[in-house]
Amino acid sequence: FDYAAPVNEPVYSYAPGSPERAALKKQLAAFKAETADIPMYIGGKEVRTGKTVDLRPPHEIKHKLGHFHMGDASHIKDAIAAALEAREKWAKMDWESRAGIFLRAADLIATKYRYHMNGATMLGQSKNAYQAEIDSACELIDFLRWNVHYLSEIYRQQPVSSPGIHNRMEYRPLEGFVLAVTPFNFTAIGGNLPTSAAMCGNVVVWKPANTQVFAAQMFMKIMIEAGLPAGVINLVYAPGPLIGDVCFADPHFAGIHFTGSTGVFQTMWKTIGENIAKYKTYPRIVGETGGKDFVLIHKSADVDVSVTALARGAFEYQGQKCSAASRAYLPSNIAEEIKSKLVAQLKTMKMGTTEDFSNFINAVIDERSFDKIAQYIDNAKKDPAAKIIAGGNYNKSEGYFIEPTVIETTDPKYVTMCEEIFGPVLTIHVYDAEKFEEIMQVVDSTSEYALTGSIIAQDRYAVELATRTLENAAGNFYINDKPTGAVVGQQPFGGARASGTNDKAGSMLNLYRWLSARAIKETF
Ligand code: ALA
Repeated sequence: FDYAAPVNEPVYSYAPGSPERAALKKQLAAFKAETADIPMYIGGKEVRTGKTVDLRPPHEIKHKLGHFHMGDASHIKDAIAAALEAREKWAKMDWESRAGIFLRAADLIATKYRYHMNGATMLGQSKNAYQAEIDSACELIDFLRWNVHYLSEIYRQQPVSSPGIHNRMEYRPLEGFVLAVTPFNFTAIGGNLPTSAAMCGNVVVWKPANTQVFAAQMFMKIMIEAGLPAGVINLVYAPGPLIGDVCFADPHFAGIHFTGSTGVFQTMWKTIGENIAKYKTYPRIVGETGGKDFVLIHKSADVDVSVTALARGAFEYQGQKCSAASRAYLPSNIAEEIKSKLVAQLKTMKMGTTEDFSNFINAVIDERSFDKIAQYIDNAKKDPAAKIIAGGNYNKSEGYFIEPTVIETTDPKYVTMCEEIFGPVLTIHVYDAEKFEEIMQVVDSTSEYALTGSIIAQDRYAVELATRTLENAAGNFYINDKPTGAVVGQQPFGGARASGTNDKAGSMLNLYRWLSARAIKETF
């Protein structure tokens, strides 16, 4: 059964006066008028513990959106048991029948729940309408449809047979359960990590970040409406370390699909290593972790292309994309022009709530994140090697607001040129425009992470040289564009080094990790 490559889901503009804008505003108002009581979903049942955690929009912390019910070790164990029970039927189910559920979920988001998904992401994670649309609508729909297509391509791949011999490959799910741990910054990643494994016939325990729960449970309800059988995906809320303790101690643990911080991923990997003798099968470990993404500008670059790559690449969604531009190298011949245009452009970016659609900048995700980012800014204010040339102010009285901030440094190895900040802070370094090869060596040697990066140049030799020299510094490399906004089916996403296992979300490379093949030879 062949599922043709889908067309990417079109992006709604939400232009003033459009019916889409009115519908989205109506949904936002509806969410704000109610107080959601959000259960866990274990074995097809809604589970409420009474131990609740409040959800508040990061841009309006005095408003309560609702609360979710926190689980403990017994709920995680229940989720594992429910998953293993569901596996009996799910793993043997016809692939076409499984595929229908995920395709239907994509259609439900596209036609019935688009404004629910976007509204939940706008309020829960403080994304503006456009950022929500490209995430919780388009990218999530694309993940579901493209993964069905890619998986059908994998299932078709069969070995040759010959006279007297019949060979075939069975692409089986893993023998056990998969743990999906998802971050706050993309609702689409929240949807993709459990569903890509489940699509392959696996059963899943899904733990989203607390700050993603509002959108995550919305997606879970859509999966149930689309026909997902009980126990195939179990949505649990619990402290991260507890999830690890329970899941990694279970002999049926068969894999982890993770997006989050490098530190957490490394801790998990170590714990899995320590437990390795317990498991029935070697677990698959798939993770996308941090980034310190660069924009390298060559002396031949177009100034306006450079400014757009920096303004959008660094500050869309408050710089909280793992792909966000956070360090830039400006050539001395055009640096002043780029800086003055960038600073002027940042002044036009309005900051505030997501309900006011004229705001480009909203809040950062939570207080912990706010404090960490503010600390980097404060340190830069005091450091002679750094100078704040835009922004630098922050305020958390109503919500976690931080102005888009640009730090200029004379030291290409300055702390904010190297450490991940995960916020609206871009650090720039001006280099001697005639020393391009030297600056490329600096970019590479400071790329402890290797997620995304851009070269901006009109000189084709410079493009070619950077593409080759920086071949290991980014898993997603952009020429004359910002380093964010990978589209499923077009730019499979992921990085190596400290950025992850580079199993490219939304591609066959990723889906292979959730399959364990059996080669069958029959002799006549
Ligand atoms: N896939 C997201 C992007 O490319 C992280 O921006």
